[in-house]
Amino acid sequence: MRASVYNCNVIEFKKIHNRAGNITSINGALEIPFDIQRVYYLYDVPGGEIRGGHAHYGLKQLIIAASGSFDVVIDDGHIKKTITLNRPNFGLYITPGIWRDLVNFSSGAVLLVLASNKYDEKDYIRDYQDFLEYTYG
Ligand code: TYD
Repeated sequence: MRASVYNCNVIEFKKIHNRAGNITSINGALEIPFDIQRVYYLYDVPGGEIRGGHAHYGLKQLIIAASGSFDVVIDDGHIKKTITLNRPNFGLYITPGIWRDLVNFSSGAVLLVLASNKYDEKDYIRDYQDFLEYTYG
């Protein structure tokens, strides 16, 4: 099945609130569509920088704005959608086969990623033409 931006959705997680602040927890595959094998985070992104610029063959990811805000542009080779993440209890699920650009980072933004697999450079598609060829075969 061809990847579609319509299968990438924003998931709201519970916020446990009290006067001293909030907690959000994500209970693995009970709350997201994969088992978490890796956690990583982007931070100290200089203003105006663009990250991402790739797709994955097999990796599933959930992207969260743990602090600050940024936009995620997702692209299935046919349709592009821009999703603004700016609340720590919301995450964007990205299926395999979706190109993503990460833009408009606020100062102090922390982009937290929960991923379905360990880091593997062979799982990346880093060239947009290669991505289109993979998508349209
Ligand atoms: P990349 O995934 O291209 O970053 P982004 O999508 O945020 O722009 O990774 C940047 C570099 O970091 C690249 O050389 C691979 C390395 N890296 C790891 O070694 N382990 C990881 O888990 C990740 C995500 C990246």
